[in-house]
Amino acid sequence: MPSFDVTIAGELNLDLILYGLPEQLEPERELLADRMMLTLGSSSAIVAHNLAALGSRVGFQSRIGDDPLGRIALERLRQGGVDVSQVRSVSGATTTGLTVILHHAAWRNILTYAGTIFELNWDDLDLDYLADSRHFHLSSYYLQRALRPRVKELLQHLKSKGLTISLDTNDDPDDRWGGGLEEVLRYVDVFLPNEREACKVAATNDAELAMERLAKIVPLVVVKLGRRGAMAQRGKERLLAASVEVTPVDSVGAGDSFDAGFLHQYLRGADLPTCLANGNLAGALSTTRPGGTEAFRDAGHREEFLRAHQPM
Ligand SMILES: Nc1ncnc2c1ncn2[C@@H]1O[C@H](COP(=O)(O)OP(=O)(O)O)[C@@H](O)[C@H]1O
Ligand SMILES: [Mg+2]
Repeated sequence: MPSFDVTIAGELNLDLILYGLPEQLEPERELLADRMMLTLGSSSAIVAHNLAALGSRVGFQSRIGDDPLGRIALERLRQGGVDVSQVRSVSGATTTGLTVILHHAAWRNILTYAGTIFELNWDDLDLDYLADSRHFHLSSYYLQRALRPRVKELLQHLKSKGLTISLDTNDDPDDRWGGGLEEVLRYVDVFLPNEREACKVAATNDAELAMERLAKIVPLVVVKLGRRGAMAQRGKERLLAASVEVTPVDSVGAGDSFDAGFLHQYLRGADLPTCLANGNLAGALSTTRPGGTEAFRDAGHREEFLRAHQPM
């Protein structure tokens, strides 16, 4: 039996979230936030952390700088129960990345200094470690700049070792949506974009059409619809799953938490409605606390929320 249920190679950094800033960010003024949270960020790390919190065995590879923020992020992931023995801490000019989120009532600014995120590369990876798993997940395709030219080769290798594979592109900061993604998708079993990303990748404004097009390439396409829940297409079969009603604090990491909830059930062999329901449940749970992992980190809160809604 492999050591892990899921292995993940990707970015590891913190999010600094500021709440209560004025809607207009006037230049040269001192603008006051009324609350802040420094928490584990980055899509790859949030998926890893929350999968482990749900009970999956997770192995994680990454590259961070030899600096305080990198150490805090690493410690958070370790405390979450993720195996971080293969995370490389590299001293040099580039430090660990950081995302600053300015949270407004109806929208947010997301400001990222990529740092070591852009430098994670093939030589940082231990292929035997990544292959010692049932499943491999890749997030933030467009942030993996150094790794991206070899992602196809990586997925090809892991597939040949019998792993299933999921991908969540997240946003493309350049808004180009190329970079060999179509080739890469041929090795993906579960594709997990949000609505906007699905439309961008499939070059249409119609999310259902996007899903239909993507389902011709990927066996299972799952599109996250924010507070409306999620929809999925497997071949010709299409499903819609409503979200869980909550009063959100913020939706940072909700999509990554959805991925964790969905994959946790997928790897137990659950049927598609159960996977979708669990994705929505995990996405909703994530919105009840700041950032993407706080609601999962608080075991009491997590278990109470899950019990109140449905068993995982
Ligand atoms: N306001 C909300 N109420 C309930 N569930 C939500 C809410 N916002 C997000 N979610 C859950 O989180 C999932 C992912 O959110 P979404 O914003 O679509 O993804 P992303 O974070 O990738 O943009 C949704 O599919 C849903 O299950
Ligand atoms: Mg996302």
